[in-house]
Amino acid sequence: MITHKKKANGFEYIHVKNSVAEAKIALQGAHIFAYTTQEDLLWLSETSAFASDEAIRGGIPLCWPAFGTNNPQLPQHGFARTSSFELFHTEETQADTTMLTLRLCDNEQTHLLWDYSFELMLHITISDTLKLALTTTNKDTKAFTLTQAFHTYFAISDIKNIRIAGLENKPYLDALTQKQTVQKGAITFDQEFDAVYQDVDTSIQLLDKNKIIDIQTQGPASCVVWNPWIEKCSRMSAMQADAYRQFVCIESANAYDDFQTLQPQESHTLSVTFTTL
Ligand code: BG6
Repeated sequence: MITHKKKANGFEYIHVKNSVAEAKIALQGAHIFAYTTQEDLLWLSETSAFASDEAIRGGIPLCWPAFGTNNPQLPQHGFARTSSFELFHTEETQADTTMLTLRLCDNEQTHLLWDYSFELMLHITISDTLKLALTTTNKDTKAFTLTQAFHTYFAISDIKNIRIAGLENKPYLDALTQKQTVQKGAITFDQEFDAVYQDVDTSIQLLDKNKIIDIQTQGPASCVVWNPWIEKCSRMSAMQADAYRQFVCIESANAYDDFQTLQPQESHTLSVTFTTL
């Protein structure tokens, strides 16, 4: 069942319920802020405002058409996460599968920030796995370059309990020191962590006390792993002081050196599938 809903302040979202999963997707940012099968996959800040022009803290913000500060002309992580998408297509052909497509096209506001014509489609498949495909089409007469990410906040039992496997021996850029390093063993956390791995072509697993989440990004892509830890968490918007213990971000991306250049009429898709094992 697909239902249009509004929070008390008028903030609009889509509620999806089928025989195996439930999800909530804000029209602002095509932002999935809840996805539940047996338990919640995603962390959502208790203090997130759900206000227009402010990104939701948690869930899956879409960073587009720039990741981080890769394009200094744009707000951090681009403008998609605060733009209004339209619900373009829905499909409920099986009891356990719901498909939605949300779309953002260039408009007066986007041209002020980024002067290109484009179509951005997020295809979401909600079943016992969550599948996302983000397709960008260049509708302009000139080429453009983009970086992007599914900035996924995973709900965890405690940051001290988790490990991330699948990135062993991968070179990465430590975004805190700007140094290139190589990942030794699985990732564990005991301080702030902000790292960008390139050419990630295998599945990544988030290993928690009582669950494993498998993350399959299609095509070689980048992966950003982030936890703000104590001090940064205390200065971040819409985060309680101990929030850093409750989530880790594993972001399927095309970021930093892994930028995409699209010629007129060309399309590119970044896809990811999350499965709780
Ligand atoms: C991560 C970056 O992707 O996003 C971090 O690696 C950043 O450096 C974090 O702090 C959160 O960004 P924002 O804009 O949502 O506060």
